[in-house]
Amino acid sequence: MSATPGSTQPTDEGARQPHRRRPRYRGTHPRRFAEKYKEQDPAAFPGMDAHIRAQGRTPAGMHVPVLLNEVMEALKPAAGETVADCTLGYGGHAAAFMERIGNTGRLAGFDRDGDERASTAARLATTGVPLVIVPGNFAGLARAMERDHLPPFDIIFADLGVSSMQLDDPARGFSYKHDGPLDMRMDRRQPATAADLLDRLSAEELAAALREFGDEKDAGRIAEAIVAARDREPLRRTAGLARLVLEAKGLDARTWRGEAGADATHPAARVFQALRILVNKELESLAQLLRDAPWCLAPGGRIGIITFHSGEDRLVRQAFDEGAARSYYSSVATEPVRPGRAEINGNPRAASARFRWAIHAQA
Ligand SMILES: C[S@@+](CC[C@H](N)C(=O)[O-])C[C@H]1O[C@@H](n2cnc3c(N)ncnc32)[C@H](O)[C@@H]1O
Repeated sequence: MSATPGSTQPTDEGARQPHRRRPRYRGTHPRRFAEKYKEQDPAAFPGMDAHIRAQGRTPAGMHVPVLLNEVMEALKPAAGETVADCTLGYGGHAAAFMERIGNTGRLAGFDRDGDERASTAARLATTGVPLVIVPGNFAGLARAMERDHLPPFDIIFADLGVSSMQLDDPARGFSYKHDGPLDMRMDRRQPATAADLLDRLSAEELAAALREFGDEKDAGRIAEAIVAARDREPLRRTAGLARLVLEAKGLDARTWRGEAGADATHPAARVFQALRILVNKELESLAQLLRDAPWCLAPGGRIGIITFHSGEDRLVRQAFDEGAARSYYSSVATEPVRPGRAEINGNPRAASARFRWAIHAQA
């Protein structure tokens, strides 16, 4: 573990920054991530954040926390409590927890992606609430507690999937919206990228993953198209994969939206989600966290998980129901909490979110 408020280096505001040339872009609005320098520097461009959010978009380099009020209402963080935020990301949920637990509490923040950890830690350090950053997979929560002699937590929270920063950065290869390398690793030390898996899995294995992790109805057809395409040339770019999915579904790049217009989900969205879950073995990590959670919670402690996919939601529901049947949990959510229309309008990425909670039995 590393970083507490005391050990996180604040930026030296007086320090002279080297002069950087502004990215130039065609037309009146920046389109590429690297061109959106104003969105990425809210301190230097006040008002930009509100302007972008009013359009239902997330400013580049930021993440808007999903179901924030609902999470706080269900998990009820109180002064002096300890929280494990298993998916720190931009720190939106963490900041809300920290505001409520105050400086007599403590938050341990996990993230397996190193890209944002330092800037999130620096942002959260300004709260003055004791913060421990745990670099790595939340599947290691129980091991981290043992290694660092941490007592059980009052709250364990996870907001699964990827952040807007990861999705919006073409170099990470998570999105069909921007062309980039087919990478998709949350932790860049993982050995296999999405391109590697597309290269070596059989059509049957690929189809099973698209079905299981993406609920993709054309899984077989798309898997066969991938295998046929890679025999000609390896699939290395996100744009190439998005094109292949459209072709396999018999759709046209200009007209696929049909009557749904701007609200239509891209035909490749499910394929990209399934590949990302496969590359990062996301369901295995979630299953491990759910298995260990009853032993990592203090008596009366609360656990809450936000999922974005039916397979994840099923795992959470089953684990909580089983925990209740074994009396590990005294109470569990009977229905998932979903975002309302206003939240979805302001943040379309919230649309598929489902939040479930459980309360640990008293000793
Ligand atoms: C949806 S974002 C979380 C956003 C965060 N709640 C906020 O308000 O900014 C998910 C984050 O969890 C991380 N993550 C996903 N799976 C993980 C895992 N198994 N272990 C640790 N971190 C994980 C991702 O790298 C990403 O940064």
